[in-house]
Amino acid sequence: MQTIFETIKDVAIKIDHAIKTEDLGYSDSSNSSGEEQLKLDVKSDYIIEEAFKDVSIVKALVSEEKEGVLQLHSEGKYTVCYDPLDGSSLADVNLSVGSIFGIYEGELKGENLIASAYVVYGPRIELMIATKESKPMHYRAQEGLFNFISEVSLNEKGKLNAPGGTQQYWCDYHKTFVDDLFAEGYRLRYSGGMVPDLHQILLKGGGIFSYPGTSDVPHGKLRQLFEVIPFAFIYEQAGGQAVNDKGMRLLELIPSHPHDTSPCFFGSNYEINALKEAYGVNK
Ligand code: F6P
Repeated sequence: MQTIFETIKDVAIKIDHAIKTEDLGYSDSSNSSGEEQLKLDVKSDYIIEEAFKDVSIVKALVSEEKEGVLQLHSEGKYTVCYDPLDGSSLADVNLSVGSIFGIYEGELKGENLIASAYVVYGPRIELMIATKESKPMHYRAQEGLFNFISEVSLNEKGKLNAPGGTQQYWCDYHKTFVDDLFAEGYRLRYSGGMVPDLHQILLKGGGIFSYPGTSDVPHGKLRQLFEVIPFAFIYEQAGGQAVNDKGMRLLELIPSHPHDTSPCFFGSNYEINALKEAYGVNK
């Protein structure tokens, strides 16, 4: 497993270099969700694929930027599902973007996720790694090396509210829930990049990030294998909760297709309990 984390550190440095030096324009292709790919999406995907080709414990790769499963090493034990450059369209306005990695053993479903990691490319490069054995571990890069900063825990209740999705299409009870949090004094924090938005809530002690199902996208926008399940694991390991609109733990999701999405809510306990109440799914 350590080899996988070391590979993630290596690719993080390379992707950061590409973000800082390469063309920010569109490529002439689109990904399997029909979204136009930026040259940086394609490059980041290539960097990750090339790096994992040398890691024999990795059986297969599943990328947000590719349709199917890429088989690598038949003797390998793990499948790495990754979003090479999440929020990539923010790079051209110079906001933070990120990479997300979920490491699965066996069938690709939430309960088989055994570790996850994400990288934030911002003013600094930061990395969060979570395994079953510990709280998420926070690292920051300096001169190409990642230094451990601390373990990360969420407070019971936070102050930040990151409400995603097109507000015009929110259902009434979701709108009431979001408005009630602001009425309680919560502050808006939403950049449009899942990685920096969830990173901020984690490091500032708590709050909630939501991407609900809406009338235009009933199953939400964020992908289960590459985005939702890896972050659910990190939030639970930090002492928080991560659920869908039925109040089910996102770590219990079983995607039927690699690119399936899910409504998702990540936060500290107070906010997620309030969400379950608002959605009428309090168990
Ligand atoms: O999945 C891509 C992504 O850019 C996430 O990083 C982000 O949280 C979300 O989409 C933003 O979506 P929207 O623009 O609909 O708020």
